[in-house]
Amino acid sequence: MNRFENKVVIVTGAASGMGLATAKRFLEEGAQVVMADLEGQVDDLDGPLPEANTLKLEVDVSHSHAVENMIETTVSEFGRLDVLVNNAGKLVNGGIESITNEDWHSVFRTDVDGIFYACRAAFPHLVSSGGSVVNTVSVSGLGGDWSMSPYNAAKGAAAQLTRALALDFGRKGVRVNAVCPTLTRTGMTTDVIKDEEMLAKFRERISLGRYAEPEEIAAVITFLASHDARFVNGVNLPVDGGLMASNGQPPQ
Ligand SMILES: NC(=O)c1ccc[n+]([C@@H]2O[C@H](COP(=O)([O-])OP(=O)(O)OC[C@H]3O[C@@H](n4cnc5c(N)ncnc54)[C@H](O)[C@@H]3O)[C@@H](O)[C@H]2O)c1
Repeated sequence: MNRFENKVVIVTGAASGMGLATAKRFLEEGAQVVMADLEGQVDDLDGPLPEANTLKLEVDVSHSHAVENMIETTVSEFGRLDVLVNNAGKLVNGGIESITNEDWHSVFRTDVDGIFYACRAAFPHLVSSGGSVVNTVSVSGLGGDWSMSPYNAAKGAAAQLTRALALDFGRKGVRVNAVCPTLTRTGMTTDVIKDEEMLAKFRERISLGRYAEPEEIAAVITFLASHDARFVNGVNLPVDGGLMASNGQPPQ
């Protein structure tokens, strides 16, 4: 498939996990890809990437000027912007009594403010190209978890931001959607995936009986960004092996 030939794509959080898998998938399908991540992360990427079609940028999405610079650099280097994937994310675990003000705000700065800054700066370019946005939300934005309140609140806000921006920009020809993964094998979940007891609990809840691979999330992100999804707008799509199909009662 070459669904993204002549298209320019930004992926944030592109040095690892779902972001890296997504950037690679867009590249495989013909896109020019800006891979944005924190300082020092993009330089150490493993695996060959087609240099001519790739621009690696150091960007902290929680800083509005850095994000605006990312959008402007993309357009000046590649001439346009077709797809914005807001994938960078931060998780802080712990009960509310142990969460500091800084923990709380740092999760919101990355998981919510980062999407707002990037969409605000990208929309004029996306309106010109008839492009789209895909946000990486989470099943944690659709329901609560135990001891993850900042992440639940921030991902819930990101899910609502997805819907609100889809309404504001639909008439201008720009779609805004999100993927909502469950447990996926990435840098963020190394500890969980090593913990056999936790894994058994996830297997019990996920009807397909396993966690996801980052490429399986990338496949849905690229679908939502593609012409195939041209009538999909404002969706927070669970990519969760059936987890959200349950009302939460334990399996019999
Ligand atoms: N792994 C899971 O089980 C899971 C499930 C649901 C949702 N998510 C979400 O998926 C997204 C991708 O995470 P992942 O699981 O691939 O984890 P990951 O740790 O492998 O990748 C996240 C990347 O985001 C980057 N990043 C973090 N803060 C940033 C910032 N302020 N600016 C720029 N880059 C930043 C990190 O450096 C890292 O490269 C996140 O939004 C995460 O919340 C993950």
